Amino acid sequence: MGEAVAFGSEARWIGAVLSGGAKTGVPASWFRKSFAVPADVRRATLRVAALGLYECEVNGTVVGDLVLAPGWTDYAKRVYVQDHDVTAHLQAGENVIGLVLGDGWYCGHIANNDRQLYGQRPQFLLELTLETAAGRMSRVVSDSSWRVAVGPLLENDLIMGEDYDARLEWPGWSRAGFDDAAWQAAPLAAAPEIALEVSPGPPVRRQEIFEPVNPAALQPRQVGRGCACLLDFGQNMSGRIRLTVRGARGASLKIRHGEMLTANGELYTQNLRSARATDYYTLRGGEPETWEPRFTFHGFRYAEISWDSRAEVVLEKVVALALYSDMPPTGHFACSHPLLNQLASNIHWGLKGNFLDIPTDCPQRDERLGWTGDAQVFIRTATLHRDARGFFHKWLQDMRDAQRANGAIPMIIPNSRSFGDREDGGPAWSDAVYICPWVIYEQYGDTDILAAHYDCMRRHFDYLTQHRVRDLIREHPDIGGWQGFGDWLAQDGSGKTTGGTPHDLIGTAYYAEAARILGESAALLGKTDDAAHYRATRARIVGAFQRRFLTTDGLLFGGTQTAYAMALQFDLLPAALRGAAGAELARLIRANGLRMSTGFVGTPQILHALEATGHLDVAYALLEQTECPSWLFSVKHGATTIWERWDSWTPEKGFDPRGMNSFNHYAYGAVGEWMFSTVAGLALAAPGYARILFKPRPGGSLTSASARLQTPRGEAAIAWTLEGESLRLELTVPPDTGAELSLPDGWTAPAIRLVPGTHEIVAAKRPQ
Ligand code: BGC
Repeated sequence: MGEAVAFGSEARWIGAVLSGGAKTGVPASWFRKSFAVPADVRRATLRVAALGLYECEVNGTVVGDLVLAPGWTDYAKRVYVQDHDVTAHLQAGENVIGLVLGDGWYCGHIANNDRQLYGQRPQFLLELTLETAAGRMSRVVSDSSWRVAVGPLLENDLIMGEDYDARLEWPGWSRAGFDDAAWQAAPLAAAPEIALEVSPGPPVRRQEIFEPVNPAALQPRQVGRGCACLLDFGQNMSGRIRLTVRGARGASLKIRHGEMLTANGELYTQNLRSARATDYYTLRGGEPETWEPRFTFHGFRYAEISWDSRAEVVLEKVVALALYSDMPPTGHFACSHPLLNQLASNIHWGLKGNFLDIPTDCPQRDERLGWTGDAQVFIRTATLHRDARGFFHKWLQDMRDAQRANGAIPMIIPNSRSFGDREDGGPAWSDAVYICPWVIYEQYGDTDILAAHYDCMRRHFDYLTQHRVRDLIREHPDIGGWQGFGDWLAQDGSGKTTGGTPHDLIGTAYYAEAARILGESAALLGKTDDAAHYRATRARIVGAFQRRFLTTDGLLFGGTQTAYAMALQFDLLPAALRGAAGAELARLIRANGLRMSTGFVGTPQILHALEATGHLDVAYALLEQTECPSWLFSVKHGATTIWERWDSWTPEKGFDPRGMNSFNHYAYGAVGEWMFSTVAGLALAAPGYARILFKPRPGGSLTSASARLQTPRGEAAIAWTLEGESLRLELTVPPDTGAELSLPDGWTAPAIRLVPGTHEIVAAKRPQ
């Protein structure tokens, strides 16, 4: 939970001068305040709370390196406050604070909604605290003595893009001596009754810079009456470009973004739907000028920059900047199969492209929402690449803010009420309420998250029991109403997006898992009665699941790959029938040409389920499959991120014509977890990696694999190489950690105590 932040009583909220309307954006407001500084200032801290987005300058220099601050929360309930150390920016005598205020999620477009979801126009509250060497404190605060004007930033919108006219800049606007007589007094805005807190999560920053891989394209080609450069940055990402240009005053650049190219080499933008994803920059003229948008981002690999060919324009430099939440890297996977290494990179980029203050489904089209289902299937894989603990503490607070009075969890967090705003996200979507805190607990040994979220889980479980369950069956067909997204985008639904797995089977499987997580959480939190209650409830749900869906010889009603994968993974079958269920799953896959038919729900579980029932060979066949549907199909066709659909693009059909066709959707990237834990063999055996299970499982065509992970106790690592009849292993056990080695069937090695440190072990094939 975020710590509360206070402002002095003299600070007032002040707001933008223009508001626009449901569809129309307006120029951003620029604020300035000049003030005198005592001679011996020792420390100066600038504290800002904004409804909207802001960037500050002090004496002509941009403060800090945060972008898109303060991020997205339910602004009707809370906003996060930033403290910036500006001591080094101050000078003796007159000083100036400048602040540019953008629309952002507060009042710009969100997804395909109209503008102004939370408020009509942005506003902010600011306080600069100055402390002298003698310990004297003074303050400069936001109030109506600030000056405001509208200027070069003509439009700024996360979904649409930015329009900036450099001719309208005021040189020196945030420096001393600037004449602001033509500016007006800043309008006071009502103080919102919301929590002002320190964010529990990391801020968004510019993280990586990409030069075009086709620099020759900076030389424009003639297109009709215009000139255009189509730049390829070699990596699909979320962010924006920064350009340096020289040219005539008033020449105007149009910058469009896209993830893919069409068959005739043009930017593919059909999948952006109503997102304009276009920036405009009008030159001031003369010296080279450098510009980067402030308050927008796009999902793109390619950018097309065009202008009227009669205007004199020279593009000197264009780079792409990847923006994402600042989470330290934690893990890395590699192996002898180049396509799998590219898949691992694509999975990591799924995170980088979509962990932008909240976990989004995709960063490019008019969506970019915190879809609960996507987040819960990917969360564990996320932690294997980046330290995602603070990020999810923040998002789970967003979830608590979004929970409805009756306990339902909306399908999108924060709830922007887009796409129909169902009461509850339904099976596998609203279950993020259990799975996300549980995974954070397991990966980091963090019981605080369970304590913070327990009540939210419990209330959701009550909601399900009262409204969505009959005879212990969740989404029982007799309940009626909407029954969730099913196995979203599965290939076994005869053309339907939700797949062929019965919704009540998915619902009941997840209901059992919810009871399990609640029971385990209650036990950890010392709530003994609750623990007993939820454990008993789970046993009853499992019984109901078996009665309704399981035949006596281990076959499942519905009979889909996802049904078997889920039943095995959530441990819903009698031990004696697991083998038969695993065999049936393997048979279904073989009968389908060694291909999956699973969607968002089944895909993350299928390889685990095969492995657990002795079908490692089939699991590897799926992992190495390159025909559609498979993970390597997109990789084979040059993907640098994970696609939303197995067949988002195929050589036969080209692009999927439906509007829902993202090329940066991390959900199917959840396979990353299996690559770490089974292919390389670095698996969690106790919360926070207090125990590690090294269980390398060489298979398929692989001859080596490795993984390393920064665990809460230090770095753990494994690397294996197959050399003829021997398996060479190098294991690193972090301090204060227990570890165990489980060799693949048929292999043996000298017994060794895996104490912290590095161990080299050579295993040999057991004589037959
Ligand atoms: C999103 C998904 C999401 C789904 C709900 C889509 O529009 O992009 O990833 O989970 O809707 O089924």
